[in-house]
Amino acid sequence: MKILVCTDGSEKSIKAVRKAAFISEHLDEVSVTLIHAYYLDTAIMSPHANGYVTGEILQHIDGEKKAEGEKILEEAARIFEEKNIKVNKVLVKGHPSTTIVEAAAKGNFDLVVIGSRGLGGLKKMLLGSVSNAVAQEAESTVMIVK
Ligand SMILES: Nc1ncnc2c1ncn2[C@@H]1O[C@H](COP(=O)(O)OP(=O)(O)OP(=O)(O)O)[C@@H](O)[C@H]1O
Ligand SMILES: [Mg+2]
Repeated sequence: MKILVCTDGSEKSIKAVRKAAFISEHLDEVSVTLIHAYYLDTAIMSPHANGYVTGEILQHIDGEKKAEGEKILEEAARIFEEKNIKVNKVLVKGHPSTTIVEAAAKGNFDLVVIGSRGLGGLKKMLLGSVSNAVAQEAESTVMIVK
């Protein structure tokens, strides 16, 4: 079974990682991929009072987001590795739901595991925009961890 586990480092995503690790432990043949998407908000590219954001600054932010993403993946990987389950780590640049749906289709994943909510603000709704879009758009089975 091929499982894709989505993480943004949030509490719910760690819960999803733990649940995926628990399930994987009970499967004979399992291949686990962790995915994190990092995104550069284009709003920062709009003119500022003191001029435009330079390419250099954008590159710096890109580097920071990348490093942050690597840490998030590392933290999730540790949870699997504690159970002696090997994982592939995928860090992608782009909108989370779009890249997750694409990766799920390309990699022919049987199951996508995702948290109900993430790092975002309002918690009134059961789902966040990423879990909602992935649940609707992915062709694979999606498990939403509450
Ligand atoms: N950048 C990301 N990369 C990989 N997975 C992500 C990413 N962002 C969110 N997820 C996955 O989606 C789950 C739900 O997060 P989501 O972003 O939908 O909720 P939210 O942050 O509360 O709301 P919103 O982002 O709409 O403000 C997370 O627990 C995580 O599993
Ligand atoms: Mg979010």
